[in-house]
Amino acid sequence: MKKQYQVGVVGATGMVGQRFVSLLENHPWFHLAVVAASPRSAGKRYEDAVGSRWAMPTPMPAQAKELIVMDASDVEAVASKVDFVFCAVDMKKEEIKALEEAYAKAECPVVSNNSAHRFTPDVPMVVPEINADHIRIIEDQRKRLGTKRGFVAVKSNCSLQSYVPALHPLMADFGVSKCLVCTYQAISGAGKTFETWPEMVDNCIPYIGGEEEKSEKEPLKLWGHIENGQIVPASSPAITAQCLRIPVSDGHMAAVFVSFDKKPTKEQILEKWAAFSGPAQELELPSAPKQFLHYFEEDNRPQTKLDRNLENGMAVSIGRLREDTQYDYKFVCLSHNTLRGAAGGGVLLAELLAAKGYLD
Ligand SMILES: NC(=O)c1ccc[n+]([C@@H]2O[C@H](COP(=O)([O-])OP(=O)(O)OC[C@H]3O[C@@H](n4cnc5c(N)ncnc54)[C@H](OP(=O)(O)O)[C@@H]3O)[C@@H](O)[C@H]2O)c1
Repeated sequence: MKKQYQVGVVGATGMVGQRFVSLLENHPWFHLAVVAASPRSAGKRYEDAVGSRWAMPTPMPAQAKELIVMDASDVEAVASKVDFVFCAVDMKKEEIKALEEAYAKAECPVVSNNSAHRFTPDVPMVVPEINADHIRIIEDQRKRLGTKRGFVAVKSNCSLQSYVPALHPLMADFGVSKCLVCTYQAISGAGKTFETWPEMVDNCIPYIGGEEEKSEKEPLKLWGHIENGQIVPASSPAITAQCLRIPVSDGHMAAVFVSFDKKPTKEQILEKWAAFSGPAQELELPSAPKQFLHYFEEDNRPQTKLDRNLENGMAVSIGRLREDTQYDYKFVCLSHNTLRGAAGGGVLLAELLAAKGYLD
C-alpha cells in the first residue's frame, strides 16, 4: 500500500462529486489532485465552475477552490495525473459505461457511484461490511479489459443502504424468506436542493425512475457468489419495494417488513445487530463507522434530521422492531444517502481496495 494516493473526482461539480471533494479534505490516504466535469465546466477554477451550486454543509475546501476543472473526456490527461478516480456523472448509461471503461483501459482504476456498470457480471458491487470478498473478481475483469491495473468497481444504490445492512446479519442463522420495503427518499438523491427543486416543498412524489427495480434487484447481487469469473446473484430473498420522494434534504428512511425461514426472537435480532461488524471495521478503514448498526429503543427514532449524521453519516440507524400480523417482524431504518449511500460509501470502498493492494 502507498502512503498517499493521488485522486481524481470525475463529475466533481455535481452533488455527489461535491461530497467526494469534501470527504477528501484531510483524508489520511487520499489527496485530491484532479477535478473533472463536462466541457461546460472545463477550464474554470473549481470554485467558479460550481458557483452557487455548492450544497455541502461545510465550506468548499480551500485547496479544491483553485484546481482548474479538467474535461472528463480527456481520459489520458486525467489518468496521467492520478492513481485512481471516483466517478459520479449525470450522463446516458451507455456513455457512462464507455467513459468508465476508457479510464480503466488507461490503467486508471474507477470507483463509481453510477449505476451503469452495476450489473456487468465481472464488476464488483460492494458494501465493504457485506461482500468485501467480491473484489477478487477484479482479476477476471482485468483479463477481459486487457489491463494490468485498471478496473471498475461500483457501490450499490443509495435506497438499499439501510435495509440490506439490517437484513444481512440475520440471514445465516434465520434465513430471510421475503421482505417488503417502502423507502422515503431525500431530494439530494436526485442531485437537488429545495432551492433547485422548490416543487418538493410540502410535497411527496410517489415515483423515482428505476429506483424500485434497483431496490429489489441490487441486494441479490450483493448477496451473490463468484463462479467462473462472474458474480452470480443470489436467488432469494424475494424483495418488493415502493420508493417515494419526500421533502427532506438528506437521508433515506425505509419501512421494512420481513419473514424468516426460522423466526428469531426479538432479542436474537437485537443481539445480531449489536454484534455485527465486517471487514471495514476489522481493517480499521479510516471512513468505517465503529458501530455499523445502531438500534434506538425510543418509539420516535430514528429521525431523519436527528440521526442521519450518525458516525459521520456512515452508520445505519434502526428502530421500532416489533412483530407484525402478516410478516414475522417490521422495523424502520435510516442511512445518509450522499454519505453512506453515495460518496462516503465510495470512499470506504476505495479504502478497502487500497488496503487490499488493488490501487498499487
Ligand atoms: N445524489 C445521490 O444521492 C446519488 C446517490 C447514488 C448515486 N448517484 C449517482 O451519481 C451520479 C451523479 O449524481 P449527482 O446527483 O451528483 O448528479 P449532478 O448533481 O447532476 O452532477 C452531475 C455531474 O456530472 C457532470 N456531467 C454531466 N454531463 C457530463 C458530461 N457529458 N461529461 C462529463 N461530466 C458530465 C456534471 O458536470 P457539469 O457541472 O460540468 O455539468 C456534474 O459534475 C448519477 O449517476 C447518480 O445516479 C447519486
